[in-house]
Amino acid sequence: MIAKPKGTYDILPNESPKWAKLEDTIRKICKLFNYKEIRTPIFESSEVFHRDQNDTSDMVTKETYDFKDRSDRGITLRPEGTAGVARAFVENKLYVDNPVSKLFYMGPMFRYERPQKGRNRQFNQFGVEALGSDSPLIDVEVISLGATLIRALGLKDVTVKINSLGDEESRTAYKNVLIEHFSKYKNDLCSDCLNRLEKNPLRILDCKVDRDKEFFKTAPKINQYLNDYSKNRFNDVLEGLDLIGLKYVIDDNLVRGLDYYSHTVFELEVNIPEFGAQNVIGAGGRYDNLIKDLDGPDIQGVGMAFGLERLLLAANYAGKKLAKEDQIHIYFISLGKRAAQESIKQANICRIGGLSCEMDFKERGIKAQFKEADKYNARFTCILGDDELNNFKINIKDNLTDEQETISLYDVYPYVINKLNQVNNPCGSCKLKENNDEKSTN
Ligand code: HAM
Repeated sequence: MIAKPKGTYDILPNESPKWAKLEDTIRKICKLFNYKEIRTPIFESSEVFHRDQNDTSDMVTKETYDFKDRSDRGITLRPEGTAGVARAFVENKLYVDNPVSKLFYMGPMFRYERPQKGRNRQFNQFGVEALGSDSPLIDVEVISLGATLIRALGLKDVTVKINSLGDEESRTAYKNVLIEHFSKYKNDLCSDCLNRLEKNPLRILDCKVDRDKEFFKTAPKINQYLNDYSKNRFNDVLEGLDLIGLKYVIDDNLVRGLDYYSHTVFELEVNIPEFGAQNVIGAGGRYDNLIKDLDGPDIQGVGMAFGLERLLLAANYAGKKLAKEDQIHIYFISLGKRAAQESIKQANICRIGGLSCEMDFKERGIKAQFKEADKYNARFTCILGDDELNNFKINIKDNLTDEQETISLYDVYPYVINKLNQVNNPCGSCKLKENNDEKSTN
């Protein structure tokens, strides 16, 4: 038996309705915020992710799946969505028609990480990117979209952690004092941090190895080095969050694990004990140079991504039922070849009319077919044998009310539709009232 690669998993048919429901919820929320879907390749030219020799992020230096294709081109499986979306934005000149492009994506990402609960080598992300505006309010909108999604999944205990990395000038000032600070502890730094000290000292603050050491805690904080523009911009973001009533915690150690960020960075954390270190379910920030680095115009962006696996685990923890148990409308039980032929005919008519149907394809006995109807949670069971066929009749049972009737073979579809309408609207005259109610709640 060939097993799946380490760090991957199968989404089996009993799990997939939850995924579909989650994706559906995400799409609805993106519509509320007017973000449009973009689908980019799952592999890109390696330069899309390996742009900068000085990139010190773990994701870029240690976790990408890189390979040569048969024509010796450098290819990388996407470890995240932002760089690919930025590449597509530049290549397709999306900035020409729209001053601001608000985009979302969903799909598999690949990182060679140590697999554990909520951390996989192939995982799925939902992400948004808003490109073309440097307004602090669009940062607020992105964070608010994330919070709306979390609320829709029934999670209440969420913390928005936020920080500002400032603009280039502020970061350069800060990097210099960090170099000065950490250089005093060269002998105590892990080998990665020694490298970061030379290439990007900010990244040291994201180190999981050195994090608890004393000299780490005494390191200078970025907020003391933000210039006036960066400080004001950060205040505007915080004020915007206050305006929409979104609570946040300023975390001055938050630098995020990717090198492209400037100004706002944030993480959305859930308080779920089993999550341990994987309690960050979504994160993002502003990137002012990425589009330029990919040979595009001087256009800024801000975005955020969630791990869908973590969202599902969190929704599960919050007790949110993401998908009702699957139900089909009709199961056709057939006894004999003629009955099976009539069943596929009837099923076809019903399916065209929008009813989901199933039937037996293994010539099983009546008991096994009843069992299967039960397994599929069929609302109606139709039973068809030679006797019924000879009289152009069919037995139909409503499994909700246990009502059983023999009806004309030609009436299956209208009969079921009528019954379904009765349940949704038990009293025909209520139709008007329902419409009025709808209007008054709008
Ligand atoms: P990130 O923090 O690397 O940011 O990933 C975002 C989210 O993806 C994480 O919070 C987590 O939920 C999920 N995630 C990351 N790695 C794994 C993994 N190995 N297994 C399962 N879930 C994982 C980004 O990817 C940025 N592109 C976010 C962004 C968008 N920034 C600006 N725009």
